[in-house]
Amino acid sequence: MYIMLTKKRVSQMNRAKLARILSTLCFMGLSAAQAQDSDLFSQSRATSLVMLKELGQKLQSAMADGGAVNAIGVCNLQAPEIAGRVSAQNQVNLSRVGTRARNPVMGVPNDWQAKALAQFDAALARGDKPADMEFSETVVKPDGSKEFHFAKPIVMQPMCVACHGSSDQISPEVKAKLSELYPNDKAVNYQPGQLRGAVVLSRSAP
Ligand code: HEC
Repeated sequence: MYIMLTKKRVSQMNRAKLARILSTLCFMGLSAAQAQDSDLFSQSRATSLVMLKELGQKLQSAMADGGAVNAIGVCNLQAPEIAGRVSAQNQVNLSRVGTRARNPVMGVPNDWQAKALAQFDAALARGDKPADMEFSETVVKPDGSKEFHFAKPIVMQPMCVACHGSSDQISPEVKAKLSELYPNDKAVNYQPGQLRGAVVLSRSAP
């Protein structure tokens, strides 16, 4: 937790300030690996935000054009397309997971992603702002290589209930389409303000 907060503060600072602080920290014994970690952290945050922003804009305009039935295609086809493209451009592995998944292949969290979701849930319950929440860690894999993990929470907004809300908030047309595409859909009965999931990123670390 301490390391996570430190990294967050460092990556929010401007470059000059960062350089000053980094040189001070180097005297204090900050390793090169830790400095690289904070680079990974800010790059991962930027990459995650690119995906969230593009997806949010596409979803909003599809909802405005033709309502929720029309917008299902954005989530069903475009979300994986955007994640794949932004991943390839940045040589990372980016996707979305849910606290209860709709997509049984891509949406189910693995162990570290479940840990991130649990932390976000606890932080929301404490009243922290979702925009301020971030998870990161570097792990050493069995073959000795390192992997960096990053996550940001995705919280329910009012517009999301048309597809993730309670039974009376989801129209019959949307229900029919969702049950056709996702026979084991668990991503319903969420309300605005609740944690819906996270954008998750992993990449190799030096
Ligand atoms: C038009 C219907 C629709 C709306 C509106 C919608 N979603 Fe979804 N959502 C989906 C579909 C369909 C999927 C499954 C996508 C896939 O196959 O990867 C999904 C998947 C997700 C996932 C990935 C995890 C999972 O369950 O598979 C998250 C996170 C998510 N939605 C969050 C949101 C949030 C937050 C909002 C509001 C800003 C929102 N959604 C609005 C239809 C919708």
